Amino acid sequence: MIEELLLYNFRNYKTLRLKPSEAINIFIGQNGQGKTNILEAIKVILSSEKLRSCEYRDLIFKKEESGSIISKIKNNQSFDEIKIIFRENKKTILINDKPSNGPQLKKKWSEVTFTPDSLNIIKSTPELRRQLIDELMFQTSNESLDRYQKFKKILLNRNKILKNFKEGKSTLNETNKLLRIIDPLFTEVSTQITEKRIKTLNEFKPYFDVATQNIFNSESQVEIHYQASGKKLNQVDHNFIHNLIENRILELKSAELSIGHSLVGPQKHDIDFIFDNHNARSYCSQGQQRALILAFKMAQIVYHYRLRGYYPILLLDDVMSELDEYRTKEIFRFLIQLPTQIFITTTDLNLNLSESEIKKEIKIFKINHGSIVSERVIQCQI
Ligand SMILES: Nc1ncnc2c1ncn2[C@@H]1O[C@H](COP(=O)(O)OP(=O)(O)OP(=O)(O)O)[C@@H](O)[C@H]1O
Ligand SMILES: [Mg+2]
Repeated sequence: MIEELLLYNFRNYKTLRLKPSEAINIFIGQNGQGKTNILEAIKVILSSEKLRSCEYRDLIFKKEESGSIISKIKNNQSFDEIKIIFRENKKTILINDKPSNGPQLKKKWSEVTFTPDSLNIIKSTPELRRQLIDELMFQTSNESLDRYQKFKKILLNRNKILKNFKEGKSTLNETNKLLRIIDPLFTEVSTQITEKRIKTLNEFKPYFDVATQNIFNSESQVEIHYQASGKKLNQVDHNFIHNLIENRILELKSAELSIGHSLVGPQKHDIDFIFDNHNARSYCSQGQQRALILAFKMAQIVYHYRLRGYYPILLLDDVMSELDEYRTKEIFRFLIQLPTQIFITTTDLNLNLSESEIKKEIKIFKINHGSIVSERVIQCQI
C-alpha cells in the first residue's frame, strides 16, 4: 500500500504531500482541479505507465525543467521508496536510490485501473484490448513480463530491418539474410506469447463467467475469443500456432517489405467479446459494453487474488459518471469491501451506498486548483 505520496512540479501541483488511508481514498473537486493528476501519479509509481497518453514533458508543471513523484510503498515483504524524475521528455526511476526500470515496478506491485476510456475498450483500438489481456497475463507470472520485454526488443529489431529496406538503406539480399536470422526467433517468441495469452484467458474464463452473471443477472451468455491472423484460437497448441505465424510471415512478406514494419505477430492480435453469440462491438449498447469491461476488471481482481494471495491496488477515475445507478451501486458494493487500498476521483460524493454498507475507513480529500484544501476521515464500524 502507498504510505506517502510527494509531488514536485508534477502536472498542476507545485508541491503536494499526501498521506492516504490504507483503505478508501476519495478525491473530490470540480472539473480541472487536479483529481485525475493524483491518480496519474499513483499509476506511474505503481506501473511506470501513464494514465493518459501524453509525452513525459506534459507531466512537468508548466515551464519548469523537471518534475518528480516520490512515494513510500509497503507490502508484506518490503518497504520501498520510489522516485521518478521527469526531465527533457525522459523519465528516471529509482527504487531505494538505485536506478531501476518500468518492468521492475510492475513486478513489485499490482494495480487495476478503471477510467472512462478503459470502459470503452470494446469499441476502441485493438491495442487497448491487447493491453487488457496482457495485464492479465503479467499478473500470472513475472516470467511472462520478461518474455514480453524480450519480444518487444526482437520486434523492434525486425521492424528496423524492414524499415532500412524500405528507406533504401539495405538491399533485398541483405534484408533477406537478416530476416532469415531473426524470423525463427521472432516466430518462437510470438508463439509463446500467443500461447500464454490463450492459456491465461482460458484460466480466467470461470472468474469472468461469475462476474458477468452478477452484472447481467445471469441473463446473458458472454465469451471471449482470441483472434490471430483472422482465426479464432481457443486452444493452446504450440505447433499449430507456430505454423500459423510462420505461414503468415511468408504470406505477408512482400507487404511487410513495402510497408517497412512487421504485420505479423501478437502485436497484431485481438480479442472479441461475444455476447449471446453476437460480437459485442456491434451488438451491445454502450452501457452493456462498459458493463462487460467492468465485469472483466472485477474478475481480474479476484483472479489476481487467487494467483497471488492479495488484492491489487484499485484506481477508479470518475467511473460513476459512466454508469447507471444500479451498476454503480453493484460495483461499489463489490470494490469497497475488498481488503485493499482504493483511490477514487469524483466531482460529487454520491456513492449511492449507505454508510452502514461501507465498513471501512474513508479519507476524503477536497482538491482545488492543484492543492488539497481539506481532508476528513469517516470511520465506519468494522
Ligand atoms: N503540465 C502541467 N502544468 C500545469 N498544469 C497542468 C499540466 N498538465 C495539466 N495541467 C492542469 O491540470 C488540470 C487537469 O487536472 P485533472 O485532469 O487532474 O482534473 P480533474 O480534477 O480530474 O478534472 P475532471 O473532473 O474534469 O476530470 C487542468 O487544469 C490542466 O490545465
Ligand atoms: Mg479527472
